[in-house]
Amino acid sequence: MNEVPTLQTPRLLLRDWREEDRAPFARLNADPQVMEHFPQTHTREESDAGVDRIRAHLAEHGFGLWAVEVAETGEFIGFTGLQWARFPAHFTPAVEAGWRLARHAWGRGYATEAARAAVAFGFDRCGLGEIVSFTSRTNTRSQAVMRRLGMHRDSAEDFDHPQLPPGHRLAPHVLYRLAADHR
Ligand SMILES: CC(C)(COP(=O)(O)OP(=O)(O)OC[C@H]1O[C@@H](n2cnc3c(N)ncnc32)[C@H](O)[C@@H]1OP(=O)(O)O)[C@@H](O)C(=O)NCCC(=O)NCCS
Repeated sequence: MNEVPTLQTPRLLLRDWREEDRAPFARLNADPQVMEHFPQTHTREESDAGVDRIRAHLAEHGFGLWAVEVAETGEFIGFTGLQWARFPAHFTPAVEAGWRLARHAWGRGYATEAARAAVAFGFDRCGLGEIVSFTSRTNTRSQAVMRRLGMHRDSAEDFDHPQLPPGHRLAPHVLYRLAADHR
């Protein structure tokens, strides 16, 4: 078990999860706009199970999907971070960068700011050689975060998500990569 590190950025705190994060996290997971590029919204039980899984990853690996808090207000707005990809694909095993913020926290640069800190931690403190990110082809906001991080897509590496049925509207995925020595 690792102690969960805290990362600070100019406006945000990336920290371990607290019990009181569960309610606002469940609210954003129940928001159809936040979950537009996922198969469905999550129930409270599914959201809580997600928190448990995220916390276990953070404790096991010393990095993960940190809870993101606005430093000035202390408000929990979602997660950003790194995790081992959870399915086999042509690019796995791989550590992926991911983010999910409440709708009111979009459009402020928070996801990119948090992800920059997480990616730097992955390269500088965890010794990762590469970090990937992927999302459905439809999720242009998430792809914009990837590009702002300096990640690159080769469309030859696009793939169909193996956990979605063939032909599902969200199955076609794009893959972005960032190498430690190409930052
Ligand atoms: C993906 C997601 C995190 C992206 O959020 P986002 O707000 O678009 O991205 P950022 O936080 O990096 O903010 C960038 C925007 O803030 C604007 N901005 C405003 N103030 C800013 C500041 N001080 N610094 C930087 N950017 C700022 C930028 O101009 C940009 O606006 P634009 O999108 O109109 O070009 C968000 O849409 C989300 O949570 N989606 C649902 C979950 C999801 O799909 N996750 C990914 C699954 S793979």
